[in-house]
Amino acid sequence: MATNWPENVGIRAIEVLFPSQYVDQTELEQFDGASAGKYTIGLGQAKMGFCSDREDVNSLCLTVVSRLLERHHIKHTEIGRLEVGTETIVDKSKSVKSVLMQLFADSGNTDIEGIDTTNACYGGTAALFNAINWIESSSWDGRYALAVCADIAVYAKGAARPTGGAGAVAMLVGPNAPLVFERGLRATHMEHAYDFYKPDLSSEYPTVDGKLSIQCYLSALDTCYRLYRQKFEKQQAKTQSGKVGLDNFDAILFHTPFCKLVQKSVGRLSFNDFLLTSEGKRAEQFAGLERFNNATLEGTYFDRDVEKAFLTQSADVFEAKTKKTLLLANQVGNMYTPSVYSGLVSLLIGVPAADLVGKRIGVFSYGSGLAASMYSISVTQDAAAFEKFVAQLDYVLPLLNSREKVAPEQFSELMEVREKNNHAAPYTPTGSVGVLFPGTYYLKDVDSLHRRTYERTPTISNGVH
Ligand code: HMG
Repeated sequence: MATNWPENVGIRAIEVLFPSQYVDQTELEQFDGASAGKYTIGLGQAKMGFCSDREDVNSLCLTVVSRLLERHHIKHTEIGRLEVGTETIVDKSKSVKSVLMQLFADSGNTDIEGIDTTNACYGGTAALFNAINWIESSSWDGRYALAVCADIAVYAKGAARPTGGAGAVAMLVGPNAPLVFERGLRATHMEHAYDFYKPDLSSEYPTVDGKLSIQCYLSALDTCYRLYRQKFEKQQAKTQSGKVGLDNFDAILFHTPFCKLVQKSVGRLSFNDFLLTSEGKRAEQFAGLERFNNATLEGTYFDRDVEKAFLTQSADVFEAKTKKTLLLANQVGNMYTPSVYSGLVSLLIGVPAADLVGKRIGVFSYGSGLAASMYSISVTQDAAAFEKFVAQLDYVLPLLNSREKVAPEQFSELMEVREKNNHAAPYTPTGSVGVLFPGTYYLKDVDSLHRRTYERTPTISNGVH
């Protein structure tokens, strides 16, 4: 039993997984009859990862957890809590976590707390907070926690389809971490909204009000940011760090349904900074923007003038602090719960480790319905430890570049197969196994009682896939 308050609790290891196949968004624009540039420039998406009927949320989680434990040589007995955040429900009352317990069976470790958490894309953050809270609580028994997020984001044919994606992220949580969750700096906003939800339990597709969903996202961002600023300023009064607003962050990650919304979100934060700056100081800090002195948050979600002005105002901040976080979102699409954590991976592989040492990363997590939090992570000052931590992600880019491109026609056919057989039983999937990455769990079959069996593609001998 641990007796001391654990120090520097946070992420000790992180593993990301994305599908081995993708569709090109330029080709998808043509196939869908959308105007050229709508998906690529308008939404900011280049490629969209997708899964055939061979993969489901259980298989994604089995793969990402196995890979994390193997890559970091973590024994199954060293895990004391395992949380799953997902909105891709398969067995309704039976959790994905319980499926993952198969991985722990040989070790005899059944003493693992935690279960699934669901609220659209926010479930992963809730899982991560639960993991952090456990380590920082009197219930902690000294072992690691694992927070796992995974989803398959698919939409019916139409405007929302190009904002799909799929993937998984697993995070090993413990004390003395290279990425530390800053205590007292969490700001949350939760509210009832029907912006995106899944009322048809027989379908993988959500009911979505696209425009409302964007408004909900932006208003949750406003509220979380203001609350975060208040909490930060209260702490800062003690530490005298002297930075407020966007200057306080060295990098900023967002839940990313599509990349363009994130670019607009940076502008939105800058607009908040503007409104929170006294009129006297605005002329100096926001020269040329005085015409927005009387603008309000509520009146400007879709105000083109405000949007454009603050996109321009924040362009340097976006370039320096957020652009690099969008690599996986741009190349894979919306992963739902893992989305914001794929942003963290993109940052870690996109910026030299030395440039992040000792820095503060702001995180905005959003899930429709709605639940949102903004919090911050501080990067360890230990440069050698941080470099070692980041080096574990060397596999990401080669894996991303080894994916197979699939024509939109074939993608559409594979979506129809998923759609038709979503709850079929008995069922044997028809998707190719050969196309999956090494070490991938896949659905072998579903029996007449809907019980799912999984197998794994061969792993590479050193256990690093
Ligand atoms: P839409 O309404 O058909 O698209 O679907 P649009 O007409 O608004 O066009 C999109 C952008 O492309 C616009 O840019 C157009 O001008 C531009 P904007 O004006 O907004 O800056 N455009 C072009 N640009 C260049 N060349 C062209 C061209 N044509 C148009 N030729 C929508 C867009 C996002 C609504 C749809 O895809 C959708 O419903 N997606 C799903 C919902 C979603 O992603 N919402 C985001 C916020 S909610 C959230 O993040 C939660 C979520 O992740 C779920 C969860 O929590 O689990 C979704």
